[in-house]
Amino acid sequence: MAARHFLRLIDLSPEELRALLKRASELKIQQHNGLRHDLFKHYTLAMVFEKASTRTRVSFETAMIQLGGAAIFLSPNDTQLGRGEPVEDTTRVLASMCDAIMVRTFAHEKIERMAKYSKVPVINALTDDFHPCQLLADLQTYQEHRGDISGKTVCWVGDGNNMCNTFIDAARLLDFELVVSCPEGYEPMASLLQENRGRVRLVRKPEKAVKNAALVATDVWASMGQEAEQQKRMAAFADYQVNSALMSQAQSDALFLHCLPAHRGEEVSAELIDAPNSVVWDEAENRLHAQKALLEFLLRN
Ligand code: CP
Ligand code: NVA
Repeated sequence: MAARHFLRLIDLSPEELRALLKRASELKIQQHNGLRHDLFKHYTLAMVFEKASTRTRVSFETAMIQLGGAAIFLSPNDTQLGRGEPVEDTTRVLASMCDAIMVRTFAHEKIERMAKYSKVPVINALTDDFHPCQLLADLQTYQEHRGDISGKTVCWVGDGNNMCNTFIDAARLLDFELVVSCPEGYEPMASLLQENRGRVRLVRKPEKAVKNAALVATDVWASMGQEAEQQKRMAAFADYQVNSALMSQAQSDALFLHCLPAHRGEEVSAELIDAPNSVVWDEAENRLHAQKALLEFLLRN
C-alpha cells in the first residue's frame, strides 16, 4: 500500500482531521499526567531541515523520543544534499532506512517530488507555500479554548504567506469563514482564493477585517528566504500590526494566535503576545502533541 504523506492539511479528510485533533488533546492530557507510551519503539524519523527551526525541530524530536523512537537531524551543510545529491536519490535512501521523513524546505514542488520517491510517509514541516503541521497545533489550541471552530469567523492579518495559505485549507476542511487582511501585492495564492471564494474574503483594512472574528492570527512580514525584502515589507505592512487596540474591534472573547517566532513591535505589539487573549504559548506547546498524533496517524495507517 502506498504511504500516506502529509504535504498539505487537505491531505486529511475533515473526519481524519477532527479525529487527529481529538487525539492530540488526549495525548496532551496523558503527557501532563505522566503517562508514557512506547508506540514508536525502534522507529526512526529523518528530519531534513533546509531552513532554520526551533519549535518544529524540538517538537518532532521530542515526540519521537517520548514515544520510544529516535529522530535524525539532517541539514544540507552536513549531508550530501548540500553537495548536489539529487533529492530523489537522498529520499529513496532515507525511505529505505527510516520510518518517516520530515522535510522543511523552500519550493513546495521539491517536497512533492520527495513524496513521489518515498515509500514511507513524507511530512511537510514548512515550505514556501504551506505549513500544515502548524495548523494542526493552531486548530487544536482554538478548540481547547473555545470548542468547535466550524461556522466561526477567523481573521488573518498580514502577509498572505505559507501560514495564510494553510489557514485557507483549514477553512475548507473545518468549514469556517476566513477574512484575509493584507496590503495589495501580498495576497495568498490566487488559485486558493479562487477555489475557496464564498469562504475566504479579502478585506484590506484590518479594523474592518477583524469585526466579528473569534480568532485573529498573524505571522512575520518577511518569511525565511525573504530577508532581502525586509525593509520594503516593513513599509508595506506598517498599518497591519496586530495589537490590543485592533483586537478590541474583534469579538470580545477573540483569541490571538501567532506561529512564532514573533517580531515584537512589527507584526504584533509586545503587549499583545502576553495579554490574556493571546494563546501563543499553548499553541507552541501543542506542536508537540499534534505532531505525536500526526506521527501515530501516518505510521499506523
Ligand atoms: N512555528 C514554527 O514552525 O517555528 P520554528 O520555525 O521555530 O520551527
Ligand atoms: N512564515 C514563516 C513561518 C515561520 C514558522 C516563514 O516561512 O518563515
